[in-house]
Amino acid sequence: MAGRTLIQLEKVSKTYKVGKLESTVLKDIDLTITEGEYVSICGPSGSGKSTLLSIIGVLNGATTGRYLFDGADITSMKQAEHARIRNRQIGFIFQAFNLSSEMTAAENVELPLTYRKEMGRKDRKELVDEMLDKIGMTDFANHFPAQLSGGQQQRIAIARALAGKPKIILADEPTGNLDSKAAAIVMDIFDRLNAEGTTICLVTHDPRSASKAKRQVHLFDGRIVDEPQTGKDDDETQLHAV
Ligand SMILES: Nc1ncnc2c1ncn2[C@@H]1O[C@H](COP(=O)(O)OP(=O)(O)OP(=O)(O)O)[C@@H](O)[C@H]1O
Ligand SMILES: [Mg+2]
Repeated sequence: MAGRTLIQLEKVSKTYKVGKLESTVLKDIDLTITEGEYVSICGPSGSGKSTLLSIIGVLNGATTGRYLFDGADITSMKQAEHARIRNRQIGFIFQAFNLSSEMTAAENVELPLTYRKEMGRKDRKELVDEMLDKIGMTDFANHFPAQLSGGQQQRIAIARALAGKPKIILADEPTGNLDSKAAAIVMDIFDRLNAEGTTICLVTHDPRSASKAKRQVHLFDGRIVDEPQTGKDDDETQLHAV
């Protein structure tokens, strides 16, 4: 069964202006993601992956083009509506975990839910327990981030992203700060979530992580290309390896 279109970018471009310098870092991006898909966006450093994800995540606006989220035109919405979509429909996971160090694991997972006026304390706690269980972190509910390994912190960040029951999970290099064992656990969680129906868009420059996704989108110099391209970074890596 073909899923419903969740993300639809049409000829999206992004130009950053810093002082008098202008640079167009995304060029004519057409991208559609349907419900239930697992898509990776890969490409060399500087190719525009994070910029593209921040536009999909409504953290950043396109300079030109059109963006429909679940059929609604983001381009013409007010900022308050953008904030509501970010809080309710999108779950973010970043390389640096971005947990609050003052809060326990459970409190971190609960935080985005506290902005929902209609949700009482008991419902929130139930949802938090469910999410901690999902990622195998129930025993660590009362630990603070500093008392957790990087992999465990990232699992808490995943639980936090999931707690709001978003329509899509957006992850930007989620295994970038993890050793290979912790990275494998995180990638397995993504596999399992997708098998349960969660829509996932994963940004990575690691081809091994990218290959876990069912569809790969390759970015090079701000454009979607058919095949992976070698970027400057990879050339440097090869030089070091010689
Ligand atoms: N806020 C900003 N203002 C100006 N230029 C920016 C901004 N954010 C990103 N850029 C530029 O846009 C280009 C693409 O950056 P982006 O962070 O999207 O790349 P990336 O593919 O995520 O790279 P990496 O793999 O290193 O994370 C880069 O040339 C970068 O310098
Ligand atoms: Mg990036």
